[in-house]
Amino acid sequence: MNGDLSRDELVEQGRAVLDWIAEYLEHPEQYPVLAQVRPGEIRASLPASPPREAESIERILEDFETKIIPGITHWNHPAFFGYFATSSSVPGILAEMLVATLDVKAMLWRTSPAATELEELATDWLRQMLGLGDGWFGITTDTASISSMLALAAAREARPELAIRERGMSGRADLPRLRVYASEHAHSSVDKAALALGIGLENVVKVETDAEFRMQPERLAAAMVADRALGYLPLACVATVGTTSTSSVDPVPAIAEICRRERVWLHVDAAYGGMLAIVPEFRFVLDGVEGADSLVVNPHKWLFTPFDCSAFFVKQPDVLKRAFSLVPEYLVTREQDEVVNYMDYGVQLGRRFRALKLWMVIRAFGTDGLAERLREHCALARKFAAWVALTDDWELMAPVPFSLVCFRYAPRGMSDDECDARNEAIMHAVNSSGDVFLSHTKLHGRFTLRLAIGNIRTEERHVALAWQRLKESVERWNDGTVER
Ligand SMILES: Cc1ncc(COP(=O)(O)O)c(C=O)c1O
Repeated sequence: MNGDLSRDELVEQGRAVLDWIAEYLEHPEQYPVLAQVRPGEIRASLPASPPREAESIERILEDFETKIIPGITHWNHPAFFGYFATSSSVPGILAEMLVATLDVKAMLWRTSPAATELEELATDWLRQMLGLGDGWFGITTDTASISSMLALAAAREARPELAIRERGMSGRADLPRLRVYASEHAHSSVDKAALALGIGLENVVKVETDAEFRMQPERLAAAMVADRALGYLPLACVATVGTTSTSSVDPVPAIAEICRRERVWLHVDAAYGGMLAIVPEFRFVLDGVEGADSLVVNPHKWLFTPFDCSAFFVKQPDVLKRAFSLVPEYLVTREQDEVVNYMDYGVQLGRRFRALKLWMVIRAFGTDGLAERLREHCALARKFAAWVALTDDWELMAPVPFSLVCFRYAPRGMSDDECDARNEAIMHAVNSSGDVFLSHTKLHGRFTLRLAIGNIRTEERHVALAWQRLKESVERWNDGTVER
């Protein structure tokens, strides 16, 4: 039999899938947040070779439930507090179904005018929500990592005298070392971008931070001066609004001033924290960003948009276009000078139609509704932080400007090494309960627990459960009822 499954099968199995989704979203607590399986277990439970004969969707869905779901770590669970907690909302899920149905490639305007124009519109809505001025061009990418890589590629292209687009970087005695600056707390995607672009890890200068994990502008300025003295070329700086470990905010206005003076491209990585600017009383988190050249925020992190959806904004789209535009004959169109062809602004040709979900999420909650949810997450984080701060033997490890709390168990008299081991043990105990999931970082060299709130369905009871599990884990250890 050729062709796709029938309409009747779609309707019948589609109903079953929708029922499953509805039940999942209503009762996520039936699953452990962190998958409780051993490496290789899921794969071993599945046939090693593909089936020759067609199988029914019904049977496949049975395996999905019994064999795949046990190996899922539930990012969409309201007690997922690891990394940066994220979530897909119902409007986003519905949009993804429509996107898969249309299967559009948003590469040329004509390959779906609505996909291109909706991307222009939805990113512009987001720009307005963030309180940014008019002069920003928006494009969606899959991740902040790629957005930041595009930013550094544009920074390189903003120096046409280097002629890197045509001549590349290797074997050139005339090319100075290109330097990129970021704080020691910047995300590893900055290093990866430098790897991918041939800038090299050695040329990512890690600028020291202050006691609150923020880049020190005077150290940045000094690093640039020292580099110039060695004949290096300061190319770009990445400032972070909401660093991954602690959600600290680099002083963007001062950094922007240095970059302007030094003619260095400033990219702001606001993948997580920048989104809070949609809340009027938190708009200040993007202060100074008008002085930057590019910015990334991730709707898939903290705007309830299913992964993937990163929004990259650039002030000089022509520079980004110069870095990447390459139009072979088979992609030439009559209208190319009048429209945006998004393939011109990045590496990919085929691009997902991400704008639909962003547009649907914004419409379905409204900007006030979205702001209210983010505000609530910050309030929950402050509440959790207060529980920690007011409890003997526990301490906060960093300020809590957003919805992330960094903390640890640190009874008086316990050595630093013992403290590290205890906190790691606490984290593993809590995560293996299956009720909540937390991750960690190291601050000032010490093991630190992180509780990140960002799921649209997280309520105070989930945060309270995390706190209860943490305290129970300490009690069980102290009672000797836990294996050491
Ligand atoms: C500040 C920051 N930048 C970039 C990233 C990378 O995000 P993505 O997974 O979208 O590449 C993260 C991930 O948590 C992040 O916290």
